[in-house]
Amino acid sequence: MIEVSNYDFFDYDYTQYWKVRKYEDFAEKHVLEKIFNSKRGKWFIDIGGSYGRLTPTYYNSYTNPIILDYSLKTLQRNYSIIKKQFPNVEMIAANAYHMPFRNDTFDGGLMVRVLHHISEPVVYFNELKRIMRNDSYYIQEFANKVNLKASLRAILHLNFKFFSKKPYQQPTSKNFEGTQTGQEAISFNYHPAFIANVLKNTGFDIENRYGCSYLRFPALKRLFGDDNVLKMEYFLQKLLKSTNIPPSVIFETKLVKVKTTQKSDSSKLKDILLCPKCLSDLVFKDNSSYCKCCDKTYKKEENIWDFRID
Ligand SMILES: C[S@@+](CC[C@H](N)C(=O)[O-])C[C@H]1O[C@@H](n2cnc3c(N)ncnc32)[C@H](O)[C@@H]1O
Ligand SMILES: [Zn+2]
Repeated sequence: MIEVSNYDFFDYDYTQYWKVRKYEDFAEKHVLEKIFNSKRGKWFIDIGGSYGRLTPTYYNSYTNPIILDYSLKTLQRNYSIIKKQFPNVEMIAANAYHMPFRNDTFDGGLMVRVLHHISEPVVYFNELKRIMRNDSYYIQEFANKVNLKASLRAILHLNFKFFSKKPYQQPTSKNFEGTQTGQEAISFNYHPAFIANVLKNTGFDIENRYGCSYLRFPALKRLFGDDNVLKMEYFLQKLLKSTNIPPSVIFETKLVKVKTTQKSDSSKLKDILLCPKCLSDLVFKDNSSYCKCCDKTYKKEENIWDFRID
């Protein structure tokens, strides 16, 4: 069993985090809007999508977007707000390591600010590959271990081991992202070469690379204001996109998959769902479903299907 960051532990309201981070929010959306502008497709998955912060960036590109998140409470709390603004969005509570979908379902996918909670990226990317179609696009953002600030700090401490490709567990004394206080949270920064390697080995070819949040310094924002810092950010996004300087790196990938199954053209959610435990068909009855093979049952509560398994 792989440990998961369960935001429901503390009833953590992630929307609050973004109330004071206009610069970071706009910086990420700027990159994603550019990427999704030219993309079109049917089923799309935003993995760890939370309350749909990034939905505006992909909503007009895909006809059937899904927000998947382990936090059932976040999805229930934000269901009506999301549905009002984005009526075509479906929301599913599930674990990124065990997703309740048929093979070869998705034309597009996205993961932003979640990979630090994924301690087993090889397992995750293989599960992702299963549900994505051949030639689908998948966008992966992650916290860059060797960003400029972290690298300078390592050099200052003569800590040259820091530059290895090994994942870096961030020290977390206090953390509400799903881990009890006093315990080490699942919070990894990854080397871009490490993630590139895992993606390539799984079949995800990196077509483009972007950097983001180059100017994540509170003093700069105070001095120049968010809007001016954003202007500088957009310039740096163009200039330094291929470097290891930014704290946040985004890979735009395309999946090359040899073995595929017959693709379904259904737009109904029930037609793409299956049991995340044994990958068999489900039988649906009102707000409940059970697996024909392993008998496990899943419920829909307060509008959200709960397919979470560990
Ligand atoms: C820092 S938030 C990022 C939310 C959103 N992607 C954004 O950028 O605004 C991380 C989210 O990942 C979810 N998460 C963490 N581990 C997960 C897992 N194994 N499966 C599904 N969701 C997960 C959390 O519940 C949380 O909502
Ligand atoms: Zn089953």
